[in-house]
Amino acid sequence: MKKELIKQAMGVLDANFQKEGFTIPSQGLYPFQWKWDSGFIAIGLCYYNIEKAKLEVKTLLDAQWENGFIPHIVFHNENDSYFPGADFHKSELHPLSSKEYKSTGMTQPPVMGFVLQEMHRIATDKEDMVEFIKKHIDKVYQNHAYFYSNRDPHDEGLVYIYHNWESGTDNSPVWDDIWKTMNPPEYIFERKDTTHVDASQRPSKREYDHYLHIIEIAKEHQYDDEKIAALSPFLVQDPLFNAMLIKSNESLLELYDLIGGNEEKKIQLRQWQQKSIKGVNTKLFDEELGAFVHYDLRNDRPIRFVSSSSFSPLFAGIPDVKRAETLVQTMVDKFGGKDKYLCASFDPTSDRFNPKKYWRGPVWINMNWMLYYGLKKYRFLELANRIKKDSVELIKRDGFYEYFDCRKNNGEANRIGYGGSNFSWSAALLIDLLND
Ligand code: DGY
Repeated sequence: MKKELIKQAMGVLDANFQKEGFTIPSQGLYPFQWKWDSGFIAIGLCYYNIEKAKLEVKTLLDAQWENGFIPHIVFHNENDSYFPGADFHKSELHPLSSKEYKSTGMTQPPVMGFVLQEMHRIATDKEDMVEFIKKHIDKVYQNHAYFYSNRDPHDEGLVYIYHNWESGTDNSPVWDDIWKTMNPPEYIFERKDTTHVDASQRPSKREYDHYLHIIEIAKEHQYDDEKIAALSPFLVQDPLFNAMLIKSNESLLELYDLIGGNEEKKIQLRQWQQKSIKGVNTKLFDEELGAFVHYDLRNDRPIRFVSSSSFSPLFAGIPDVKRAETLVQTMVDKFGGKDKYLCASFDPTSDRFNPKKYWRGPVWINMNWMLYYGLKKYRFLELANRIKKDSVELIKRDGFYEYFDCRKNNGEANRIGYGGSNFSWSAALLIDLLND
């Protein structure tokens, strides 16, 4: 069974591989290269095609801007089945954007540091992988330097995101109160996502108006970071985004140790690391909720909701043991009922929870993957194994979908996953989980 599942997962990844040297997340719905998808995909590829894994990472890093920024989507071709595409985003407005690749002017969680380390862990030819890392690690370092120089205006060690699409958790209920502070125009545009996936599983038209409006403001100012920090109606310190940056800082430090030299970069990484860990622990932890929460920097207030992002600092070793126990208790109490698979993307006890809609409740395999390793790090082995088992069961039940209903019984006869089918990171990370 395990072998068969791995074979199927490899089939998904191979079918989604493109001649330009990257893997699409899912046919139809996502026809380009997405930043954090590529990172997770490379981890799965390492188990059976190391050259493809290296190419995946290289292709993404080739699209890096001169200021170290790595965009969230790289538009490698002219596919018009996605909105908003290259013509809408217009990355060329930024003076330092890539001259070779069209992209968006926003980013996604900084996964590449820990992805390089995972690639080294999995690779059998370590020497060859070290050579690859030597060639590419500075680009990842420059990406972190970009974040710390441009995205931390109050020098708190906490970087901001200026768009919900930068979070990766695109339409989480966490953003709902920010939408209430905005009143964007009613844009006229043609949705493409709802031609691929049932509209009940995707964001609403009005939500898209907000998403587009933030981009229009950024474009008016040529994607200038200072202007965005001053003017964007969306400016958030996200525990998931910052946890991934911290995890990647730690990986870069360990990889620089491995390849030798680079003393100044290591000193800098340690400084960033110290400040960021402190920042997440002091500013983003909510004692009453027993969880990490987002902070709305524009409106200067915490966003007090529990989501799967609330537990992601475990992955980066951010909380101390006592706080990790609190997090686990919160996860078990709110998300861990026997009638549910772990881990819903949003608090199932909240009235904003929706078990079918994108990031408003369904289970995501990349979040489960992070939580699995995070819980293992703190020796919560039973819960870690439950998350792993649940992930495998959901994929067995529904297939390699993008997201899954956390309810073990939702009353429907034919169970089927949601969003894109044959979804690359669900396949890639299943390969890793089954090998661990
Ligand atoms: C989408 O189009 O929903 C993408 O996830 C944005 O990154």
